[in-house]
Amino acid sequence: MAYSKNFTLLISIAISSLMVASASNFYQDFDITWGDGRGKILNNGQLLSLSLDKASGSGFQSKSEYLFGKIDMQLKLVPGNSAGTVTAYYLKSPGSTWDEIDFEFLGNLSGDPYTLHTNVFTNGKGDREQQFHLWFDPTADFHTYSVLWNPQRIVFYVDGSPIREFKNLESNGVLFPKNQPMRIYSSLWNADDWATRGGLIKTDWTQAPFTASYRNFNANACVWSNGKSSCNSKNNNPWFSQELDATGQERLKWVQKNYMIYNYCKDSKRFPQGLPKECAFNI
Ligand SMILES: *[C@@H]1O[C@H](CO)[C@@H](O)[C@H](O)[C@H]1NC(C)=O
Repeated sequence: MAYSKNFTLLISIAISSLMVASASNFYQDFDITWGDGRGKILNNGQLLSLSLDKASGSGFQSKSEYLFGKIDMQLKLVPGNSAGTVTAYYLKSPGSTWDEIDFEFLGNLSGDPYTLHTNVFTNGKGDREQQFHLWFDPTADFHTYSVLWNPQRIVFYVDGSPIREFKNLESNGVLFPKNQPMRIYSSLWNADDWATRGGLIKTDWTQAPFTASYRNFNANACVWSNGKSSCNSKNNNPWFSQELDATGQERLKWVQKNYMIYNYCKDSKRFPQGLPKECAFNI
């Protein structure tokens, strides 16, 4: 009797703590770091919004640092005439030899497509841009943008479709981010000196404030704290060794064929000394 009572209690504690851990809560996972009230956590922590006006943009960052993970976030981007605005969503480690995994959404005139700009930095060096248009209007609704980062690869996903893979090619002399824990950052800011058609189209401040929204954050990740990872060495989370299966590779090819608008690996003019080494191994 006593045993079963305790057992029931234990189970219900376990279940309720699981539920707390799995429900996304922006109060729990993020801090608004700048923007003087322009960044807001709403609906009991279920929603976050950033805004931008002529005086300032805004931004937030994760409380935790991560070393590897499968990280999902839903974003709904600035609607209407968003030309000149940039919504950046990225992982980054500190210091001058940082690593970084970037999604940046470059706004556009009403009816013209957003550009999704991606990049990977290792030891402070990027220059690995790939840009895409999307197969939907990213301002009409929330869509899921994910990063899979494990010791073998980084995969960028949009609504579950892989759009870019950066493989671990250390054996070929290409650096790979695997030692520096990263925080998640996002910001909404004015970049009309370069963002839309190379800076030709300026932000229309009569449309301000510009607002982007976030929900359903989910991190299946190794949290780094006090010099230690929450994952043990025999990590058996499926994402830790996840790779693209045949379907994923087909989907990646489809996205790259139909929606990629810039690929640094095809830009030989930019690299007169020869394309970066990893380009020989990627699509
Ligand atoms: C904006 O729309 C133009 C015209 O369709 C397109 O060429 C461009 O890639 C879009 N994005 C940006 C950021 O300029």
